[in-house]
Amino acid sequence: FSDQKQMRWQHMDVQRTFPKRTSFSHKGSHGKGAVVGGQLSMPGSVALTARAALRSGAGLLTVATVKDNIPVVANQCVEAMYHVWRDDQGILIDDSVSSLNHYDAIAIGMGMGRADESQKLTLRIVNEINRPVIVDADGLYHIKSDLEVVRARLAPLVITPHLGEMAMLTETTIAEIKQAPFSITKQFAQKYQVYVVLKGKFTIITTPRGEQVVTDTGNPGLAKGGSGDVLSGVILAFMMQHNERLPAIANACYLHGLTADMSITSGRHTETDLLASDVIDELSVAFRTIV
Ligand code: APR
Ligand code: MG
Repeated sequence: FSDQKQMRWQHMDVQRTFPKRTSFSHKGSHGKGAVVGGQLSMPGSVALTARAALRSGAGLLTVATVKDNIPVVANQCVEAMYHVWRDDQGILIDDSVSSLNHYDAIAIGMGMGRADESQKLTLRIVNEINRPVIVDADGLYHIKSDLEVVRARLAPLVITPHLGEMAMLTETTIAEIKQAPFSITKQFAQKYQVYVVLKGKFTIITTPRGEQVVTDTGNPGLAKGGSGDVLSGVILAFMMQHNERLPAIANACYLHGLTADMSITSGRHTETDLLASDVIDELSVAFRTIV
C-alpha cells in the first residue's frame, strides 16, 4: 500500500487518541456493554469477546447467551453478569430485545449459528436498538438477509468481516476484494452507512462517510479460531470509552495486532502456539506502550 501511507494508523495516533481514566472515574464512566451470541455448541466465542472487553476497560459487561452455556462462560469470565436468553434447543431466539436498550454498546453474532430464529433476533436488534451495535461472524450472515434494515438504521453500526464474509456481503469473490479492498469497502460503508472493519493481514477501517485508515499490526499467530471474537470485544470496550468512533475502532485493531506481535517478540509465545485467549491475557503488554 505504498500509495496509502497517509492512512496508516500508527502508534502515535493511538497515543494521541487513547482516553485516560480519570482518578474520579467509577465503573459507570467506562460504559455498560452487552455481548449477545453463543449457541449451545459454541460457548467459547462469547467468553472470548466478553473477557477481551473486560480486559479492555469496559466498566460493566453482560453476556446474553443460552442458559446451558452460562456456567461454562461464567467460569472463564467471573467479572461479567449474565442474561439468560431464551433459546430453542440451544439456539438463541427472538426475545426481550428491548432490554438491550439499557446498554451503551452491544456486540452480537459471535458463535451464534445461522438458524432462522437467530436471524430474526439479529435483525430486530439492528432495527430496534438505538445504541452502537457491533455485528460479527454469524451476525454478518444474518444481516445479509436484509441489508435494507441496516441502511434504515440511524444509530452506529460496526461490521467486522474477514475477506470471506466481505465477499458474502457484497456478492463478490475474495479475489475481487483483494484487487480493490479500499474501493469495495468504501462503497459498501457509504451505501449502508456503516463502519466496516475489513480484517486480514492488513485491516482496513472505513467510516460511513468514506474515511479510511489501515492498521498493519498482527501476524499469522492470529490466524486461528477465536481471534476475531477477541477483536470484537476490544472494539466493544473502546466504543464505550472513546468519544470518537474511528479512533475507537482503529485503536482496537492496532492494539489487538500489536498484542499478538509483542507476545511473540517477548518470547512468551510463537505464531504456532499463540491462542486467542493468550492475546486477551497479553493485552496489558500492548496497552503499557501507550499509557
Ligand atoms: N496477519 C495479521 N492479522 C491476522 C492474520 C495475519 N496473517 N490472520 C488473522 N489475523 C487477524 C485478523 O485481522 C482478525 O483481526 O486475526 C483476526 C481473525 O478474525 P476472523 O477472521 O474473524 O477469525 P476467527 O475469530 O477465527 O473467526 C473465524 O468466524 O467469521 C467466522 O466463519 C468464520 O467460523 C469462522 C470464524
Ligand atoms: Mg470471525
